[in-house]
Amino acid sequence: MSVETQTCISSVKTIYQAKYGVPELFVKSPGRINLIGEHTDYNLGFVLPAAIDKAIYIAIGKRNDSEIHLTAIDLNESFSVSINDLVKSPLGWPNYIMGIVDQIKKLGLLIGGFNAVLAGDVPLGAGLSSSAAVECATVYSLNELFGLGLSKLEMVKLAQRAENQFVGLQCGIMDMFASMFGRADAVIQLDCRSLEYHYSPFDQDGIKIVLLDTCVKHSLASSEYNVRRKECEAGVAFLKTIHPEVASLRDVDFVMLEELKDKVDLKVYHRCKFIVEEIKRLQDACMDLDKKNMTAFGRKMYETHEGLSKLYEVSCKELDFLASFSKKNENVLGARMMGGGFGGCTINLVRDHAVASFIAQAEIAFQKEFKTSLKSYIVSIGDGTSVISIA
Ligand code: GLA
Repeated sequence: MSVETQTCISSVKTIYQAKYGVPELFVKSPGRINLIGEHTDYNLGFVLPAAIDKAIYIAIGKRNDSEIHLTAIDLNESFSVSINDLVKSPLGWPNYIMGIVDQIKKLGLLIGGFNAVLAGDVPLGAGLSSSAAVECATVYSLNELFGLGLSKLEMVKLAQRAENQFVGLQCGIMDMFASMFGRADAVIQLDCRSLEYHYSPFDQDGIKIVLLDTCVKHSLASSEYNVRRKECEAGVAFLKTIHPEVASLRDVDFVMLEELKDKVDLKVYHRCKFIVEEIKRLQDACMDLDKKNMTAFGRKMYETHEGLSKLYEVSCKELDFLASFSKKNENVLGARMMGGGFGGCTINLVRDHAVASFIAQAEIAFQKEFKTSLKSYIVSIGDGTSVISIA
């Protein structure tokens, strides 16, 4: 257990005890990375995420009334609300928890009031899905606490609906799925249409996963995300008029794609082109992974970045700078921006022996270019959401 993890666990325990007495349960839910397959989840394609060794920790216990009392240690903020009066909060983070409670109520399941204290070492706003981790930690702990009987997949879907309906981001299922179903040392090959999945061992022998965090948090991230989703839907709507069997971009091949050209807005064509290519690229990349051909896999990561930047237009100058910086380093097998975009991290597959010098050089180059510092994280792949026992 890392020092950061120990600190999080002992702080949620101590603060909970000081405020409410002994907690009934501790739950951990991790952040995620995604190796390849970006913006493909809501287009019902494939994704290749994994849970990481950075997580949100929650200490929780029932109350005798119908109130929810919350404390976010890292933000030094508290919030309380009645279960019967859930309204979106300008604080932001309570919405992930209220969204879950709202969805539990919508299922007609009964829960009472509760106290919860949260802390975590998932960097916030870095594209590592700290919000999905909070949602999964919340639904998992309430499921245990109130005996709701939800399966893991039901909890994942519930968390996605919480984000879509209460928070307002029309995200796909990837982040919650990875947080809930993550497994140490394996990536999840998830088919977002059938929700079939399998774990592929991620052979990290000699390779480290390095995240370079631009620390850019774009305010347009969620509105532009929803726009991309609409643009993809516009492409599907047109193709449906010629091919009624097309239900999503997953059903579109390269011949159909050409039928879109000149018939729809160029932007819509570009968005669809990226997605159709990315769905294919991921399938090819999975074959590279099976053959342990990480050089070929890495090349596809660079192609993904190019598409996200030029066709899907969800990158930013800082992410583009880092991706091309990595490309020049022969010890970086692959790199690209990761997650929704407009800021956050690049994910880099770096040869072990070169990690320290790569990070040091990236920090210098980034500082020189943008007059601001870069953060870096070396992550490993960890297990998904679970109850943790605390001595
Ligand atoms: C965000 C969303 C996910 C997914 C990615 C892009 O993380 O929450 O559902 O769409 O962006 O791949």
